[in-house]
Amino acid sequence: MTIIAAKRVFVKSYGCQMNVYDAERMADILEGEGYAATDVIEDADLVVLNTCHIREKAAEKVYSELGRIREMKQDRTGRGLETRVVVAGCVAQAEGAEILRRAPAVDLVVGPQNYQNLPSLLRQALKKPVVETEFPAEDKFVSLPAPTPKTIRSRGVSAFVTVQEGCDKFCTFCVVPYTRGAEFSRSVAEIITEVERLALSGVREVTLLGQNVNAFHGLDEAGEPVSLSELLNRVSKVPGIARLRYTTSHPLDMDETLSLAHRDNPALMPYLHLPVQSGSDQILEAMNRRHTVTDFRAAVALVKQYRPDTAFSSDFIIGFPGETDEDFAGTMRLVEEIGFSSAYTFKYSPRPGTPAADMADQVPESVKDSRLQAIQALVTKQQRAFQESMVGKTLDVLVERIGRKPGQVAGKSPHLLAVAFEGSADSIGHIVQVDIVESVTNSLIGQLSDRPRAVA
Ligand code: SAH
Ligand code: SF4
Ligand code: F3S
Repeated sequence: MTIIAAKRVFVKSYGCQMNVYDAERMADILEGEGYAATDVIEDADLVVLNTCHIREKAAEKVYSELGRIREMKQDRTGRGLETRVVVAGCVAQAEGAEILRRAPAVDLVVGPQNYQNLPSLLRQALKKPVVETEFPAEDKFVSLPAPTPKTIRSRGVSAFVTVQEGCDKFCTFCVVPYTRGAEFSRSVAEIITEVERLALSGVREVTLLGQNVNAFHGLDEAGEPVSLSELLNRVSKVPGIARLRYTTSHPLDMDETLSLAHRDNPALMPYLHLPVQSGSDQILEAMNRRHTVTDFRAAVALVKQYRPDTAFSSDFIIGFPGETDEDFAGTMRLVEEIGFSSAYTFKYSPRPGTPAADMADQVPESVKDSRLQAIQALVTKQQRAFQESMVGKTLDVLVERIGRKPGQVAGKSPHLLAVAFEGSADSIGHIVQVDIVESVTNSLIGQLSDRPRAVA
């Protein structure tokens, strides 16, 4: 009897959560082609790198990985094994055929709007390398197959669902409008069907994703546009869904109805990622953010008015062209004033084709470095203080997985803090009450509360 081994695919994702979601959808369509997922790259008949173009470092990382993959491919060829290499994601979209020139081991370059065509593109690429970076008229999400119940269960109780893609805002530093195209919202029916399917296989928490998720305006059954707050209401009615989050939002689109949802929708968690980028109006203007520092403060205040325990996180770009010491001091003051539960800080990276890359007054690397250090120290201090403020409290924890230490399970608090405690695997998928006893680096340690209240 001959045993035909299943083909294996290794998918690696860089960049944002939307890439994580896309990687899952690629794995789903490839499963239909007979590929089982593997975590071991050396075992893979098909390697997919789902890339990110946001900063130079992220984009360059892909080429060093492709160098290693070429050696691996040669080694496998020596053992009579075939290996096919796909570059997907935002570097694929931005660089297209250039990738084939720099990395001849690549068989297929495919942009984010073409994953529904992966099987046929892979067949075409058997003859010669293929580059597909068109923006097709059809909605890729409609044609991508849904994951099987088994696959959903293997991915855990918290899931991402992309509801909006692309961006029309054109911040002067950013490649996303070019790599992901124009803003597009999925239909409400499509999203609800997907969430129902996830919930039936044990998903309890859904994070709605979009590059500008709060600009969501998908159509309902009657063909009327629906806002994000209304979408959140509908998703929270799906049986089994206990928690909702959404990311990433733009301060401009943080309106009153969405802020009200933070009071009125009990499934919506008290945590909001709201990138501001800078605490200087001059810099915000040069970035084409179309909001001021005051607008950002107002957006934070509005959500807090309706849900006072909301924790905020944000993104900051350090050393944007023309950023003076005074501009940077404004950013530091804003961080002090708001107090973030976490924040991501990036040195400005000039991206080819974006207006800011050609601006005068590029900030020297050494200045960027020292400012970055200063803001990171402040952000880390705030993050620690926020975590420590949870010690002594009893938190609702959605249990997600077995913990690192024997006998432990791990999950997330409403504010997205990681919590580990002694508990049984049976509790995975449940929301339990945990008394927090200690704050360690990047997580909280607790014990199951002896005053448990059935939460969900
Ligand atoms: N759509 C989101 C975020 C998109 S990219 C928003 O509007 O905020 C994620 C983060 O990467 C951005 O918030 C920004 O802080 C950072 N970023 C984007 N382009 C960058 C660049 N050229 N250099 C450094 N950081 C950048
Ligand atoms: Fe990029 Fe700005 Fe669009 Fe966010 S809003 S994706 S930072 S262009
Ligand atoms: Fe990167 Fe593309 Fe996301 S550039 S951050 S993977 S949208």
